[in-house]
Amino acid sequence: MLFKKGEFFNGPGGIAMGAKMSKVVDKEGRVYSVQHEWANDYDEAACRTFIHNICPTKSETVIQEDVRKLDINSLTDIDAFTFGFPCNDYSLVGEKKGLHGEYGPLYTYGVQVLKKFQPKWFIAENVSGLTSANDGQAFNLILGDLIEAGYKIIPHLYKFQEYGVPQTRHRIIIVGIRNDLNLQFKVPAPTHGPGKLPFKTAKEALMEPPIALDAPNHERTRHTAKVIEFLNNIPAGQNAWYEGIPEHLRLNVKGAKMSQIYRRLSENTPSYTVTGSGGGGTHMYHWEEPRALTNRERARLQTFPDDYEFLGGKEKVRQQIGMAVPPEGAKIIIEAILKTFAGIEYDYIDAKWNTDRMIMQKELTLI
Ligand SMILES: C[S@@+](CC[C@H](N)C(=O)[O-])C[C@H]1O[C@@H](n2cnc3c(N)ncnc32)[C@H](O)[C@@H]1O
Repeated sequence: MLFKKGEFFNGPGGIAMGAKMSKVVDKEGRVYSVQHEWANDYDEAACRTFIHNICPTKSETVIQEDVRKLDINSLTDIDAFTFGFPCNDYSLVGEKKGLHGEYGPLYTYGVQVLKKFQPKWFIAENVSGLTSANDGQAFNLILGDLIEAGYKIIPHLYKFQEYGVPQTRHRIIIVGIRNDLNLQFKVPAPTHGPGKLPFKTAKEALMEPPIALDAPNHERTRHTAKVIEFLNNIPAGQNAWYEGIPEHLRLNVKGAKMSQIYRRLSENTPSYTVTGSGGGGTHMYHWEEPRALTNRERARLQTFPDDYEFLGGKEKVRQQIGMAVPPEGAKIIIEAILKTFAGIEYDYIDAKWNTDRMIMQKELTLI
């Protein structure tokens, strides 16, 4: 069974790469997989990266356009749909305007696609801050809209380090299966952590195997002597506020002291969350060498293969990598969906949210 996939907010293709890597075979030898059909994003560099890696011979299937101006009627039929809608208004860092922000309502364009094409399944992705935006109303409304589009939904907070991703990254992923298919998706059970396989560490991710010096997107940042001296005074796992930093090197910052500033990785744990924006001191720092990570190293923490080449300027590439869903994480969820369709059993856990209760809440809200 081949699922033709449409995608909104495709970014550099984290989910798409996970889909491309996904394959399940049932007892009768039938193969279940996903094939790219079309994608949309308004970012020029992200679209180029997506085409380059996901569909190099079908550039016309990636539509670079503001989704608010996109003619949904011009899109071709699909069986699967994915949309990691922008998190800017839901992120815990920031103003948290939620549905009242510029980006908050963009998920409704995904809902339009669900209503028009009625794909067999979908994946929606966002940050954990989604649950608290607009005092919880945004999350309820979004879930209610997805249910109303005709889907049984299973929202869960996935902690990607528990699935072998070498990075602490927590994201809400909502899987939806069309009601009439009568299939019950279950959240795949974590494979890494206490009592399971050991967490994959940042050092393993970056060193095993070592990255070829000529790997794409592997240019180093040239730091000033002062930054190098500063980093040399911060041990692995500590940040700019480490008490052992000599007085004359300390940052003169008033107000909130963000823990990610000049934070060096710990070599024996998964890395902290890879992000795509931020000024000086937010580029993630090597545990041993006094330097920022290269984009290729950040891509490794995000589980992109080394031949996945990101296009655009260095900061643009950093943004793409930081915003992506880790392909290996997406693959685990997509393969669980494929197994659900193939009738193949797998280990599962309870989803974090019970949607039956959510429906009641929506009805209560509407009354
Ligand atoms: C979180 S990223 C998606 C990452 C992607 N799911 C992945 O796994 O690689 C969100 C994307 O939404 C895009 N975006 C934001 N506002 C948009 C709009 N109005 N129209 C189209 N794309 C938009 C951004 O350019 C960005 O690439």
